[in-house]
Amino acid sequence: MKIEMVDLKGQYDKIKNEIDQAVLECLSSTAYINGPAVKEFQLQLEKYLDVKHVIPCANGTDSLQIAMMALGLKPGDEVICPAFTYVATAEVIGLLGLTPVMVDVDPNTFNLTSQEIERAITPKTKAIVPVHLYGQSCDMEPIMGLAEKFDLFVIEDNAQAIGANYTFSDGRVAKTGTIGHIGSTSFFPSKNLGCYGDGGALLTNDDELAHKMRMIANHGQEKKYYHKVLGCNSRLDTIQASILNIKLKYLDAYSQARNEMAARYDSFFQNVDGLQIPTRQPNSTHVFHQYTLKVKNGRRDDLKNYLAGLGIPSMIYYPLPLYKQDAFRQFSSNNFRLEFTEELCDEVLSLPIHTEMNTSHMDYIYNNFNSFFKKQ
Ligand SMILES: Cc1ncc(COP(=O)(O)O)c(C=O)c1O
Repeated sequence: MKIEMVDLKGQYDKIKNEIDQAVLECLSSTAYINGPAVKEFQLQLEKYLDVKHVIPCANGTDSLQIAMMALGLKPGDEVICPAFTYVATAEVIGLLGLTPVMVDVDPNTFNLTSQEIERAITPKTKAIVPVHLYGQSCDMEPIMGLAEKFDLFVIEDNAQAIGANYTFSDGRVAKTGTIGHIGSTSFFPSKNLGCYGDGGALLTNDDELAHKMRMIANHGQEKKYYHKVLGCNSRLDTIQASILNIKLKYLDAYSQARNEMAARYDSFFQNVDGLQIPTRQPNSTHVFHQYTLKVKNGRRDDLKNYLAGLGIPSMIYYPLPLYKQDAFRQFSSNNFRLEFTEELCDEVLSLPIHTEMNTSHMDYIYNNFNSFFKKQ
C-alpha cells in the first residue's frame, strides 16, 4: 500500500479540469504579473477571512518580513516568538537585526501562552509572534490583552492554521490571522490552502499598515518608479492566484475531511499506552495541518523507523529547538534550555493527513502501530 504524507497529485486530479482551465487562461492572457486573478484572490480571501485587507506576496517568510518592516521595528528591538516552530518565524527577526526572544510553548497545545510571553517581556520588547502551530489557534484573547497593556505589536504566524476559528470570551468568533495587528500566511503547496509553487499573504484590519505593507512588497513604491521606503519584490504570481481562487472554494471541505481523519486517528490512539493524541483547545477549531502525536518513553525514533520500513511516512516537526540551531546560537547562551520545547522535539511525530486519505490507509497505519506497541 502506498501512503503519502501529503497527496498533492490525488488532490489535483479531483479538481484538474477547473485548475487546468484557470492556468491555461492565465497563460494565454500573458498577464503573468499582477493579473486579474491576483485581485480576485485578494477579494475572495478578504471575504472568507472577514478581514479588511489581504496583501498577497511571494511566500510566508516574506510576509513575516514585510510585516516587521511595516511596523518600523529597529535593530535591537526584541520580538518574542516560540522556540518550537518552523525556522521562518525567527529567521526574519534575526535577518532584520531584531532580537528573537525564544520562549517555551504549552506542552499540550504546542502553542505560545500569555504566561510565558509575559515572563519574557522587557523594556526592549516591541512585538510578539504567536504561531498557530499544526492548525490550532493560540489563546489570542490574553495575548492581545498583554499587547495592549505593554504596547506591543502582534503578528500572527498563521501559515499552518488558515481557516481556523478562534472564539473570544464574549462569544465573538474570528478567523486566525485576523486578530493581531497583522497576520501572515503561506500558500506553500503542502499547506491547507496551497498553490503549485510559492505564495503568501499579509492580513490586517489597519488601513495604514495595509498601505505600508503593499508599498514595501512592491519595492517601496506608491507610484511607479518613485520609491518612498526601502522595500522588496514580493508578489504572488497570477498563475498561483488563479489556482488559489479555485482551491479557496474547497478549503472548508478540506478542513472537514482533515477533522474526520483526525477523529479516526484519535479513536485509534487514545488508549494506546505511550502515545498522547493532540489536545483540542476549547476556544479554537482545529484545521489539522498536521496530526501530531507525542510518543513517550524515548520510543519516537524507533517507531518512526519501524513505520518507514512498512511504507508509512511520518515527519518530525521539529527535531531541534531554534536556540540549538547553529544560526540562532548568537541569540542565547550555551546552556539556555526550555523544558517543554526540548521534550516536544524528542517526542512529536506527525502522521500522514491529507484530503485524499481513505479509511484503508488509516487502518493499515493503525494495525502497524498496534504491532509495534505489542512488541514492547
Ligand atoms: C509556521 C510557519 N511560518 C512560516 C512559514 C514560511 O512559509 P513559506 O514556506 O511560504 O515561506 C511556514 C511554512 O513553511 C510555517 O510553517
